[in-house]
Amino acid sequence: MKERLIFALDVDNFAQAQKWVRMLHAEVGMFKVGKQLFTRCGPEVVQMVRDEGGEVFLDLKYHDIPNTVAKAGIEAARLGVKMFNVHTLGGAAMMQRTVEEVKTAAAGEGFALPVILGVTILTSSSDAELLAVGISKPVAEMVPLLATLAKQSGMDGVVASAQEMSLIRAACGDEFIVVTPGVRPATAAKDDQCRVVTPGQAVAAGSDYLVVGRPIAQAVDPILAAREIVAQMEAGV
Ligand code: C5P
Repeated sequence: MKERLIFALDVDNFAQAQKWVRMLHAEVGMFKVGKQLFTRCGPEVVQMVRDEGGEVFLDLKYHDIPNTVAKAGIEAARLGVKMFNVHTLGGAAMMQRTVEEVKTAAAGEGFALPVILGVTILTSSSDAELLAVGISKPVAEMVPLLATLAKQSGMDGVVASAQEMSLIRAACGDEFIVVTPGVRPATAAKDDQCRVVTPGQAVAAGSDYLVVGRPIAQAVDPILAAREIVAQMEAGV
């Protein structure tokens, strides 16, 4: 179960990131490198995680013309990341071309094919916010619509809150990967996450991977906190 726990490396410097990877690489399955850490430290931080024995989920949410996203995806895959993601709102052609070009490059150059995920609608977006950018369908319709488009485009899965799980499972089946952030152990602070679920609830709802940051990073004993989350995930099966 610990392979399904992803720790969010939400820090702004290399030394802090390395400290967390050294402490937690035996406790979690992957480390999420996002826009802040990658913009500050670049590909070296991905290499560091791998040198320390960890795997990387590169969370850069690419959204651009098909050629640009496909080429960025190839570079992510060349770095040896285990997973990376793109915005499904970039469209079917963008997703299809990315999957195809990354597959071709992986086969040609002999590197491992990463899991390619789609971001549907950010959890920070409400129905009203979608309407303001001209999208009149509510979030509950947009999420399964975009997840289906991602699946049809050859993507491996999506990033989504556990609340959206049943909609995605109904639209895309059980084989489609769902990665869930916003997870909080029953006893932990919610921080700025509003629609939280516990690790047990997320796994029971069908999440394949859980992204957890502050409940581990801000714990008195982060190693113990990670182990407790894994135990709660096991209890949720
Ligand atoms: O500290 P916390 O556990 O809230 O961190 C969750 C991580 O997942 C953060 O890196 C955050 O950016 C990310 N995330 C999220 N909600 C989403 C998508 C990503 O919290 N909908």
